[in-house]
Amino acid sequence: MRSAQTLSTSQKSCLVWFTGLSASGKSTTASALDMALCQRGYRTFVLDGDNVRHGLCKDLGFSDQDRAENIRRVAEVGKLLTDAGLIVLSAFISPFMNDRLMVRDLMPAGAFIEVFMSTPLCVCEGRDPKGLYEQARAGQIKDFTGIDSPYEAPDHPEVRLDTSTMTVDECVNTLIGYLLAQGLIK
Ligand code: ADX
Repeated sequence: MRSAQTLSTSQKSCLVWFTGLSASGKSTTASALDMALCQRGYRTFVLDGDNVRHGLCKDLGFSDQDRAENIRRVAEVGKLLTDAGLIVLSAFISPFMNDRLMVRDLMPAGAFIEVFMSTPLCVCEGRDPKGLYEQARAGQIKDFTGIDSPYEAPDHPEVRLDTSTMTVDECVNTLIGYLLAQGLIK
């Protein structure tokens, strides 16, 4: 549970953008980082498919065009929240390089942190928490990322995390270390 804490004024707002395959650990890591930052008194907000695709983006599906629009809306909301001073953590597959570049370009230099969840497809598919990979393999879901829709891995992400070899705590510590090193938190 997030509990009320004295708010820290030592943060610089930024958009921490988790990208990776379904079940690669984006939401889990984002929410654990959210907790860790809140406990240290930082003001944060998490955007992910669960709170966005059921509301703001409920009119969108998974065509390339709809994914681009999903990411565009999320980026604009993320930017508004960073304008309000928050550290925003966003967790979307965001499979296309161009769409992620658009988000990077929207943000001031140094305020977009691309976190590539590089967990291999076989591990993500083995986890299959929602049974979606199985349905995609059976042809019951079309355009599923990693199966019949591409994932374009980032060439130069700010941070790379593989949850098949790292624990959630290790991922969070790596990210906290990065934010400290960049002076985004103190
Ligand atoms: S994105 O491609 O537009 O960035 P987003 O992160 O919002 O995708 O949503 C991904 C989640 O939607 C997946 O984790 C999965 O639970 C669900 N989903 C349903 N259909 C698909 C699909 N065809 N491809 C990928 N994810 C899908």
